[in-house]
Formats: sequence, structure tokens, C-alpha cells
Amino acid sequence: MSTERKAVLIIDGHDPIELPILSPVHGNDCIDIRTLAAKSGLFTYDPGFLSTASCRSHITFIDGDKGELLYRGYPIEQLAEKCSFLEVAYLLKHGELPNATEKSEFEGIVKKHTMVNEQMAKFYQGFRRDAHPMAVMVGVVGALSAFYHEAEDFSDAAHRNVSFNRIVAKLPTIVALAYKYSMGEPFMYPRNDLDYTANFMHMMFGNPCEKYVPNPVLVHALDTIFTLHADHEQNASTSTVRLAGSSGANPYACVSAGIGCLWGPAHGGANEAVLKMLEEIGDVSRIPEFIARAKDKNDNFKLMGFGHRVYKNFDPRARLMRKICADVLKEQGLANDRLFKLAMELEKIALEDHYFIDKKLYPNVDFYSGIVQKAIGIPTSMFTCIFALARTVGWMAQWEEMIADPEYKIGRPRQLYTGTPVRDVQPIEKR
Ligand code: CMC
Repeated sequence: MSTERKAVLIIDGHDPIELPILSPVHGNDCIDIRTLAAKSGLFTYDPGFLSTASCRSHITFIDGDKGELLYRGYPIEQLAEKCSFLEVAYLLKHGELPNATEKSEFEGIVKKHTMVNEQMAKFYQGFRRDAHPMAVMVGVVGALSAFYHEAEDFSDAAHRNVSFNRIVAKLPTIVALAYKYSMGEPFMYPRNDLDYTANFMHMMFGNPCEKYVPNPVLVHALDTIFTLHADHEQNASTSTVRLAGSSGANPYACVSAGIGCLWGPAHGGANEAVLKMLEEIGDVSRIPEFIARAKDKNDNFKLMGFGHRVYKNFDPRARLMRKICADVLKEQGLANDRLFKLAMELEKIALEDHYFIDKKLYPNVDFYSGIVQKAIGIPTSMFTCIFALARTVGWMAQWEEMIADPEYKIGRPRQLYTGTPVRDVQPIEKR
């Protein structure tokens, strides 16, 4: 990373302030403002981080104009086609794809960690059956700290490694238990003869009375969905995980914080919101009405599954997801599915509309992922849990990268205070 170029900041009443410009491998140069407050007494103001790089990272890169997503330098299209989700998890964590020995060792380790403590399975009884599964996830994943945190020293790379393996292995079990609990069905133990994603489907859809035989087309589709959601640079939930972890909090608590953030409809909750929106639109004839609402400044309605902070031409994950969507619907005999047809028509109309063209609003990954998951048999309320399961890999890789970085500090933004100026407390009769 070159630091030879400098930015010179001219502020009334100050000598010019020189700030180094950092050049990354890919992406925008960054003005290093770390010394600005000490040199000038000024802060920068950037709510929503529109112009701020919050950290250095080796893990994921997005070029929003090109519609490019790289994990450790590999294009997402190649990873989705040639690698399993667990290979991608290994890549995100270790920086390189595993060779055959490393792959089978990693798969073996993950299999050994898939069960949860029996006490933990009892937690579920404390939730209402109709609780949103993301609420259950926030609680149960955070509760992993009650089982493992005390024994772990996160300054030790070996301990961080164990927590990565443990949490990646247990997330599918925790998600499946949340589903089974909501359905009132018996919990299914993991099966070590199955691969990661097939085992997840067994825990979700199997029952103790008969052997579950996973459908390879659906397993492949879900595994690819996991890969497409595994990491996405410094998005809101990943930044939440990093901020929580910057205080030295244990990774289970950090991932739980990430799940809480992901739940919101502007982030991971969008896949659920897309399906609800399609149901609400109901018929192609009502699309213009909803497009008009999305364009109306006085209406809070947004076209869910459209738009992205970073992608301004297309979301490469959406292209891959569109293809998976077609494969899964065909496999399930749903090629004429009403919601899929409605989604295709909505996409077509929105993509021809000037409002969406001018604002560079394109379908994002979540526009299709809900339709695929529904076709696989996953209920709408579970969609964001599937996203969380996959993104846990990225959260843990990013958390580890931060903890291992000698430059890391507790995250502590400052503010532009716009409240009441200093004043004195008056006696109660004068207030
Ligand atoms: N429908 C209608 N108008 C929109 C939409 C939309 N989906 N998205 C953005 N706009 C408008 C927005 O009102 C604003 O208009 P104006 O300039 O007149 O104020 C303009 O486009 C820029 O949008 P923004 O909200 O300032 O952009 P942002 O970068 O802050 O937000 C976003 C990005 C993804 C939160 C937003 O596009 C959105 O809410 N989309 C719908 C929810 C969604 O699909 N989220 C999933 C994101 S992908 C999965 C993930 O990575 O989590």
C-alpha cells in the first residue's frame, strides 16, 4: 500500500494540513484522516459512512460500478460454480482455497462440532412457538457464550480457530432447531454421512420416522445461496460485528449483534420483505400502482429487492440467483409459479422506468433469493436466518481479521452535537 501521495486540507485560520493518501490494491484511494482531530481540532461528518473506509481488509472486494464481487481475489461467479460453501468458508477464513487434504480435514472438523449442548436445545422451550425465528437466533447464538466463552482466550489464534469452526458448524443446527420448534416438530440430530448443506436440509425437513433423502438440485441451490451471501465487505451487519468485537467482546455475542442488525428490512430482512411485497401486489395489473408508490416522495414504500448502496449497475449475486431461481422452479415443477412470474414482470417494468434508471436501482440478491427459498420449501420467516447462517462465515472471518490486526482499536465514532446548549437544572416549581 503506497503512502507517497498527500492531500492538503486548507481550513480558514489553520496552516495547510497534509494528510497521507492510502492506495489500496483495488478500489478508491483513501485520505488517512486519523491525525486530523489532533492537528486541527476538527472531526469529519459522514453519517451512513458514505465516504468512509472503516478499516483495512484483505477479505472481500466489491466494485459497484463494474458489478464485481471478489472473495480473497476470486470472482464470485467462479466460486459459485466451482466450490462448495465450506471451501468458500475456508477461503474467507484462511485466505486460500483448501487443497484436497485441507478440504477433507476441514469438513471433518466441522462435522465434529455440529451438535449443540442438550441444555442449549432446551432454551428453545422458553420462546413462544410463534416467535420470529430471527428473535430466537439472536438469543440462542448469543447464548453460545454461556457455553464456550469462559474457556477461550481470543488473543490466541488457535482459540479463535476453534470458535470459527464451532460457530460455522453449529449455525445450521441452531437455525434448523428454530424452525422445528416453530413447527412443533421433533428436533433432528445432525447426520455426519451428509455434507454441510444436505445435513442442514435433513435437520430442517427430515423427521425421525423415515430417512430423509436430500434432492441434489436443491442442495446445490442452497449451497450456492450460502456462497453468495457469505461475505459482503463492510456492510451494516459486518460493521456491527466489528464494532461489537472491537471492545474485546466474545465472538458469539458479536455474531448475535450481527444477526440483530441483519434482521432489518433494509438489509437481510429484504428477502422476506420481497415475498411479502409480491403477495401484496398479488397481480400483474397492480404493478403500476406499486411502482407509482415507490416513486412517491410522500410514501415510505420502497420496491423491496431493488437498489444497493454499492452496486450501481447490477448486483452480480442477483444474476447468479436469477439462474438458480429458474433451476429450482423447474426442478420443483413451479416454472409457472405465480409469484415468480409477477417478480419477472415487476423487474421488467422497473428496469424500463426512468426513476429506477436515473437512480441506478437494479434488482439485488434478495429480489430472487426469497422466491428460491420458498420453492425449496423454506417458510418466509426463515429467509433471513438462512442469510445469517451464511453470513456468519464472513462475520467470523472479519472479526478474526480485526482481532489479529495490531492496528486495531476500540471503535468510537464522535458526533456533531445538535442538542440544547449547556444550561442549569431549575428547581421543580420553575420548570
Ligand atoms: N425503491 C424506490 N426508491 C428507492 C429504492 C427502492 N428500493 N432504493 C432507493 N431508492 C431511492 C431513494 O428513495 C433515494 O431517492 P432520493 O435520492 O430521491 O432521496 C435514492 O433512491 C437513493 O437511495 P438511498 O436510500 O439514499 O440509498 P442507500 O444507499 O442509502 O440505500 C438500500 C440502499 C439498499 C438500503 C435501498 O436501496 C433500499 O432500501 N432498498 C430496498 C431494500 C433492499 O432491497 N435491501 C437489500 C439490500 S441487498 C442485501 C444486503 O446486502 O443486505
